[in-house]
Amino acid sequence: MSHAAITGWGKCLPPAVLSNADLATFLDTSDEWILSRTGMRERRISHVPAIDMAAVASARALACAGLDSKDLDLIVYGSCSSDEQVPNSASGVQVLLGARNAGAMDINTACTSFLYGLSAASAMVRSGVVRNALVIGVELISPYMDWENRNVSVLFGDGAAAVILQSSESELGVLGEHLGCFADARQTLRVRGMGCSYANQGVQYGDTLWDFDGQEIFRRAVKGMAQATEKALARCGITTDQIDLMVPHQANLRIIESVAKYAGIPMSKVFLTVERYGNMSAATVPVALVEALEAGRVKPGATILMPGFGGGLTVCSHVVRWGDRVTPLGLSPAELAPNARTALEMVNDIRARRSAHGASERGLMAPRFAETRLAD
Ligand code: ACO
Repeated sequence: MSHAAITGWGKCLPPAVLSNADLATFLDTSDEWILSRTGMRERRISHVPAIDMAAVASARALACAGLDSKDLDLIVYGSCSSDEQVPNSASGVQVLLGARNAGAMDINTACTSFLYGLSAASAMVRSGVVRNALVIGVELISPYMDWENRNVSVLFGDGAAAVILQSSESELGVLGEHLGCFADARQTLRVRGMGCSYANQGVQYGDTLWDFDGQEIFRRAVKGMAQATEKALARCGITTDQIDLMVPHQANLRIIESVAKYAGIPMSKVFLTVERYGNMSAATVPVALVEALEAGRVKPGATILMPGFGGGLTVCSHVVRWGDRVTPLGLSPAELAPNARTALEMVNDIRARRSAHGASERGLMAPRFAETRLAD
């Protein structure tokens, strides 16, 4: 059987930095609170559409693998913040890359979208449906954020990264994974208005309101990632001491520390980006993977663990075997359009547009859909 080796990688972080001090200019919060409760100091705010960030990251991943865009058979776009539902976003990346021979599909499992996409694309490569696949994790959260809600608005940032999968006879790429979902807790993270349902959710077209139970998500995230890791390792017959590096989803430093402790992995083997980028949802794990490579933390032949969780509440954990090459074959000249505004200016623009709607007040009184129950 063939395998799906990761042969290319690339990231794209928008340049504008939003610091904890910037957030404290309009929220009742502080650098001390955010840093001590989450491990975050700053996050990025994008001045371009998500597809542009995804395309730049993808061009860099293609150059890294030494592939032409026309060699791609499949593009998987993992995200929960697509600019449009129809057409899908993968097709938008395809057109920017000129990858005219590829199929293109979106996957949305919130923060785990890249990892679920990695599973789907790896399975297609292994079964021979495609030979070369591009898997993207990208998120443009800032326009959808309820910036007045300090419970959530300090946590998220924008960004993108991508990997190339290629068919290989060597046992490389995803060795095994576990996918799961605490669907009974799906209401703990809901962004009302970030889809097609407005009228019954107490939001007007264009507004978004975040229902967010941080403590319950925290508990489920730790339990879910620990359980998924145990199952993924058992599936591959690998023990935690054989893990060289853990590249987890990064929603909160304390969540990561708890998962590492449960899994028996020392923090010295965990690669962290949460301080600089916050939670970039689907982009978090691939950006961290790219930066781990850039920092020389991925050695040839390394075994990497990638646990994740996201809205749904989806959970997963992937065990990945790296190949011999840990440096890019080539570099892409692709760059984002230049940006003239500060992150705080962009956020204040979004806030001004939202307050014109008066979303938050109405949302507190929002009627909800009754939930149909088919099973206990
Ligand atoms: N600044 C200052 N105070 C704040 C802030 C803030 N930004 N946010 C909340 N507080 C206050 C609360 O109002 C509360 O005040 P009170 O005691 O007067 O009521 C107090 O701080 C403590 O709040 P807690 O919720 O108990 O704080 P906790 O230590 O649980 O940390 C946090 C909150 C950071 C949200 C944590 O629960 C968490 O990280 N949860 C998981 C979040 C997460 O993973 N999100 C991603 C979801 S899935 C995905 O990745 C898409």
